[in-house]
Amino acid sequence: MTHSPLSQDELKTLVGQAALRYVVPGEIVGVGTGSTVNKFIDALATIKDSIAGAVSSSEASTERLKAAGIRVFDCNEVEELSVYIDGADEIDPSGYMIKGGGAALTREKIVAAQSRRFICIADESKWVQTLGAFPLPVEVIPMAARRITRQFEALGAQVSLRLRAGEPLVTDNGQHILDVRGLQIAEPLAFEAEVNNWPGVVTVGVFAHQKAHVCLLGTSAGVKTIEF
Ligand code: 5RP
Repeated sequence: MTHSPLSQDELKTLVGQAALRYVVPGEIVGVGTGSTVNKFIDALATIKDSIAGAVSSSEASTERLKAAGIRVFDCNEVEELSVYIDGADEIDPSGYMIKGGGAALTREKIVAAQSRRFICIADESKWVQTLGAFPLPVEVIPMAARRITRQFEALGAQVSLRLRAGEPLVTDNGQHILDVRGLQIAEPLAFEAEVNNWPGVVTVGVFAHQKAHVCLLGTSAGVKTIEF
């Protein structure tokens, strides 16, 4: 008998459900943003009475968590989280990631930094050897956008301001997003540190200092658990 391959949506459901085993009963869980995380939130709703609540990385996830009856805490109400569960646009064999396709990278990095373990949930299309094929999201203060664009262009990249309905997209933090194409990010730790130092950069979408500790990768053979 032949098995038809699972769709990307089915793989996202699988990893969203698999992440439940990292949720610590009685505790507050860190929750990321995106379509894969939405599957996780749906799964979390089935065990909502066994957790204290969640810290959320975006207005969109907050809304979905609350609609599922899960209490949402502010970051500042919580000391440390044992686990943060989020998706990625790319993840490499060291657990370094590109994130921010959903424009939530700044809050995602904040919640990740507050968490002892980052569990990345992703379908196999996100697995790469070197980061950079996915356009790198960079959240910037609007008055610095042109200069930061020129700094990336000097590295040989092409840069576009992310739009929504023809207007610059405004993040949950009131800032803009540049999408940077044409980079091969061979040294993610050094690259993240360098771009973070450019005036006007709020957050660069390389997650190397806040890398994943575990990746639950959805493949047609099932969920693969990769530890870094
Ligand atoms: C949002 C993110 C997401 O985790 C990333 O874009 C992956 O999203 P999806 O699960 O929808 O593929 O970083 O800012």
